[in-house]
Amino acid sequence: MIQFNPSTLTVLLALFLSHAVADDAKLSSNLVGCNEVSCPKEGADDRCTVGNNTFMGIGLSHLADAPSYLSDFALLKGVNVSAPLGGKNNDKPRRPFRSFYYLGAPSDAEAKDLSGCVVVFHDPPSKKFKGPKLQGKHNGTDTRAASGTCSDVIDKKCIKMITDRATELADQANGEVCEELNREFKKNLPDECDGFGGNGRSFGEFSVKSLGNLTSIPNSTDCWPVMPKSDQLLGIMSSTYLRNYSADALIDEAYKITPILTVFVGKDNSSFVNETSSQMTCLKVVTEDNPDDDKDSDKSSALRMKASGLVGGIAVLVAGIFAIL
Ligand SMILES: *[C@@H]1O[C@H](CO)[C@@H](O)[C@H](O)[C@H]1NC(C)=O
Ligand SMILES: *[C@@H]1O[C@H](CO)[C@@H](O)[C@H](O)[C@H]1NC(C)=O
Ligand SMILES: *[C@@H]1O[C@H](CO)[C@@H](O)[C@H](O)[C@H]1NC(C)=O
Ligand SMILES: *[C@@H]1O[C@H](CO)[C@@H](O)[C@H](O)[C@H]1NC(C)=O
Ligand SMILES: *[C@@H]1O[C@H](CO)[C@@H](O)[C@H](O)[C@H]1NC(C)=O
Ligand SMILES: *[C@@H]1O[C@H](CO)[C@@H](O)[C@H](O)[C@H]1NC(C)=O
Ligand SMILES: *[C@@H]1O[C@H](CO)[C@@H](O)[C@H](O)[C@H]1NC(C)=O
Ligand SMILES: *[C@@H]1O[C@H](CO)[C@@H](O)[C@H](O)[C@H]1NC(C)=O
Repeated sequence: MIQFNPSTLTVLLALFLSHAVADDAKLSSNLVGCNEVSCPKEGADDRCTVGNNTFMGIGLSHLADAPSYLSDFALLKGVNVSAPLGGKNNDKPRRPFRSFYYLGAPSDAEAKDLSGCVVVFHDPPSKKFKGPKLQGKHNGTDTRAASGTCSDVIDKKCIKMITDRATELADQANGEVCEELNREFKKNLPDECDGFGGNGRSFGEFSVKSLGNLTSIPNSTDCWPVMPKSDQLLGIMSSTYLRNYSADALIDEAYKITPILTVFVGKDNSSFVNETSSQMTCLKVVTEDNPDDDKDSDKSSALRMKASGLVGGIAVLVAGIFAIL
């Protein structure tokens, strides 16, 4: 009988994994979560850390429909929520959900090279991304793993209207792009944008931040949730919403879709941005399934049944090794 050699298997698995997490790996075209950026897990849970903040999950995406000179930029969202307190201390009705937003930029880009504005829309669109089906007794969509792009949840005509208008305002704004956008987005949206910020035709709550004023984040952790890993992260802003301890509140708030408008204003002498352009990119925390995760959710048993892509890949590889031996 052929002997199974564990050290051979370990080496092969290590090769397979190191290939999967190569540092110079490029970001795939989709909105992705912690798994794709290979942050170490804490037990079965996702843990992505940026600077002083630890997140239960992240969403990382290229800028949507960006011109080629912006193809190396990305947007990152991370959400931190405190663990439910046990026993008698669990008397507060609500806990804070803190969302942080970052711009991923090539390592040689400098914040002062950038000019323009970022607008974060805090109220999610009424439509949701399609997710994988949950199996078992909880039939429905796995909202945590759901991913997509803005055009899946916002009418393409609406996106074009907003981005065209933003570019037009930026060209007229004389440097005061954020002030102009702030004024513009207090108005109502056209019919095409029904449901943009939830119900109705309002932009909902939003925050603006000047692109020239982003803060550089020191790269001090074993997890740097961006691709390629040599890219830097610039802090845009954070926002906090209080929600109760229910599983529904967790799914609604931590996994909500956040549309982000970026307006890059061209600078004659910038090596990165030579003309003004606007993009609408949707971010959302994407959590691929982890066994035993999410104990405060009644969906955990159903979630446990689905293996993640990477685990599936290892299973196939192991089966292959056994076939060879
Ligand atoms: C992290 O926390 C330390 C101490 O509180 C502070 O000095 C530092 O500026 C923080 N870093 C970031 C990136 O926020
Ligand atoms: C949220 O941040 C706090 C304080 O930095 C940290 O103790 C906690 O583990 C974080 N929560 C998650 C889910 O990462
Ligand atoms: C879930 O879906 C399966 C197959 O689509 C169906 O047989 C089953 O009755 C559904 N269960 C519930 C609780 O709806
Ligand atoms: C950057 O932030 C500082 C302090 O918040 C503010 O005074 C300054 O006007 C901002 N600069 C730009 C270009 O928005
Ligand atoms: C950040 O740290 C990671 C892991 O230590 C490393 O792979 C990456 O090259 C670093 N990135 C930068 C911009 O220094
Ligand atoms: C908790 O929040 C959820 C979702 O926001 C809501 O549907 C539910 O009614 C709230 N429960 C309580 C007890 O307030
Ligand atoms: C680049 O532009 C900035 C202002 O936008 C100006 O202060 C600086 O002198 C310019 N540098 C060169 C080399 O033209
Ligand atoms: C900006 O640069 C790109 C590539 O370098 C070039 O194709 C494009 O024509 C430039 N645009 C302007 C307005 O100079």
